[in-house]
Amino acid sequence: MANGARKVAVIGAGNVGATCAFVLAERKVGEVVLLDIYEGFAKGKALDMSQGGRVLNYDGVVSGTKDYSDISGSDVVVVTSGFPRQPGMSREDLIGKNADIINQVGNGIKDHAPDAVIVMVTNPLDLMTYHMQKITGFPEKRVVGQAGILDSARMTHFISEAVGCSNEDVQAMVLGGHGDTMVPLPRYTTVNGIPITQLLDSDEIEAICDRTASGGGEIVKLLERGSAFYAPGSAAAIMAESILFDRKRVLPCSAYLNGEYGMEDIYIGVPVILGKDGVERILELELEPSELESLQGSGAFYKEQLSSILGY
Ligand code: LAC
Repeated sequence: MANGARKVAVIGAGNVGATCAFVLAERKVGEVVLLDIYEGFAKGKALDMSQGGRVLNYDGVVSGTKDYSDISGSDVVVVTSGFPRQPGMSREDLIGKNADIINQVGNGIKDHAPDAVIVMVTNPLDLMTYHMQKITGFPEKRVVGQAGILDSARMTHFISEAVGCSNEDVQAMVLGGHGDTMVPLPRYTTVNGIPITQLLDSDEIEAICDRTASGGGEIVKLLERGSAFYAPGSAAAIMAESILFDRKRVLPCSAYLNGEYGMEDIYIGVPVILGKDGVERILELELEPSELESLQGSGAFYKEQLSSILGY
């Protein structure tokens, strides 16, 4: 981590990046730099947020730029650049276009913020996180992807609605890739310690798991153009905060596996401890054979895409 005041850069000033920057500013994490290839877009949103600070009483510095030298000294760089999906598209349909963008962004980070921890948000998430690690050559634990917090938040929301209780008391666990193969884990999901199996019947739980797995698509369909951003941007901000303040929060994230859960050389969603060095530890849950099979199936799907489409 760099010395002095904390600094976080958010690459991409679209809906997800701007939401993330706004949440970070509002939580007073330190200096926030918003970078976009369209300079006016980054500068305009940064100025708007700075004026919003006057309303909400945050006093941080938010600036906009298109110049990568302005991200130097960042402790964390959140990467949101890329195309969102449109109705009818899977996240994987974005691979080619977004991989090219990640090449450029990765080189900019490598040159100007070589000590930063990178939080990836660009889709298809697990593949772009792997690609970013390869482009930058950063240690694997310093490149981590956002997805599990978002997917768990979606599951939490559906459970709190079904049970009729506060969101705050629901802890949901979703592992695997951020796509159709994601693995919601009802066995590790509780309402203030009470297993959800004691509160909901199996049909309700199954419906919630299905709705969680297609949660992003549900929003894409409703919006008709673009994809979700409030929850994804906020989730990335919470990861950045855990790293910036070395909070060591236990969060499901896309992390590099080297034998854990029986998988190797792959980024996939698993619970991790997230601190100033990035992924400080991967927590291995005891899984039942069917759960492990789903998780490994998700890994195998992405492994195949890495090799057939990205040539890894
Ligand atoms: C979603 C997109 C951002 O799940 O992947 O909403």
